Amino acid sequence: MRVPAWLEAGQDFVWRPYCQHKTASPPLPVVSARGCRLVLADGRELVDGIASWWTAAHGYGHPHIARRVKEQLARLAHVAFGGLAHEPAYTLAPRLAAMLPDGLQRVFFVESGSVAVEVALKMALQSAYQRGQGNRRKVIAFEGAYHGDTFATMALCDPVDGMHRAFTGLGVEAVHLPVPTPGDDFEARFAEHAAEAACAIIEPLVQCAGGMRMHDAEALQRIRRACDEHGVLLVLDEIATGFYRTGAPFALYRAGVVPDIVCVGKALSGGTLPLAATIATEEIFSAFWDDDPLEALQHGPTYMGNPLACAAAHASLDLFEQSDMASVVGRLETRLREGLEPLRHRPHVRDVRVLGAIGAVEMEPGSAPASDAFAARGAFVRPLRLASADVVYLMPPLVIADEDLDVLLAALDAVLR
Ligand SMILES: Cc1ncc(COP(=O)(O)O)c(C=O)c1O
Repeated sequence: MRVPAWLEAGQDFVWRPYCQHKTASPPLPVVSARGCRLVLADGRELVDGIASWWTAAHGYGHPHIARRVKEQLARLAHVAFGGLAHEPAYTLAPRLAAMLPDGLQRVFFVESGSVAVEVALKMALQSAYQRGQGNRRKVIAFEGAYHGDTFATMALCDPVDGMHRAFTGLGVEAVHLPVPTPGDDFEARFAEHAAEAACAIIEPLVQCAGGMRMHDAEALQRIRRACDEHGVLLVLDEIATGFYRTGAPFALYRAGVVPDIVCVGKALSGGTLPLAATIATEEIFSAFWDDDPLEALQHGPTYMGNPLACAAAHASLDLFEQSDMASVVGRLETRLREGLEPLRHRPHVRDVRVLGAIGAVEMEPGSAPASDAFAARGAFVRPLRLASADVVYLMPPLVIADEDLDVLLAALDAVLR
């Protein structure tokens, strides 16, 4: 592959994410993207099997999003949220609240999923403190979790499979429990820590970056009941599962569980501009309602509620509203199941799991082929490499056409042979 001059010139200056620079192949140079395809510098097109880390739900270059962002750019690109307000954010907040169960209404905008989770933790810990429960300093998290890369969120990630071993013990005090399974002693283990816990946090139905591990609604309902019994807040991290990835607008609807706080991000702006949000109940908000300025929520990122990102989110929500996403994802789920299930008996494969527009092939650690092998067959696929397993997965744009999905499934079929 011809390496473009800009990549050659920049590669000694750019520090890549999650990249062992010593052994990694050079990154693939992308010059444009349209629909579900990435266009490389040499003219090749790859079908994007992971939708830019699960953001590009509507595919790339959607004209409706481009138009809304352009109009907003001409009017107001950015203004700080401190003491000032703008229409895109003030109309987006009620729109998001309307998509969620009643009561989840107070929206705090941030620029990334990790920070949305940080803000959820601050809401839980600070509200406990202000309600005279300063002893509640712990967070109950779950094995298999991934909630981000900042210090507090790293502490919530799976302690074995997480990629943050150099930072163990830093950040918030987290306790990791196994996700409940029928007949286990989850309630007793939860009770051991509950009196000191401000909140419990979980990715509902699918723990994504931690290995596309799936659990059922009953597991979440047990967590909700345990939280209620012990006065612990429940945070659902819907950053990956939200916006129809599991077929419902949010996985919490599939699970029949209403949290106290929900975090959203990724597909919110349709893979265009950085935006995430933490949405809490009025009950939590009321713990911050006081004459003392120091009792206000202590957070305020410079680019919070960026108007361009909010305009992109409005356009993204328009697109979700304009089609029957539940059937679109239902169809995708069927096709993923048909395409991936036959791989179950291939060498090194341990399991195949599909839910909504998420399809995963779990393999023995170290056995998944590198991205290059998939790219040679026209697909961009980036396996998760954990201590306990490799996971080759597809989370394509939700709008992917049959022929593009066929390219992805054929690539997996050929490469995992
Ligand atoms: C469930 C979940 N929470 C949080 C994050 C962190 O989001 P960001 O990468 O935007 O900080 C991710 C990212 O993959 C995620 O999947």
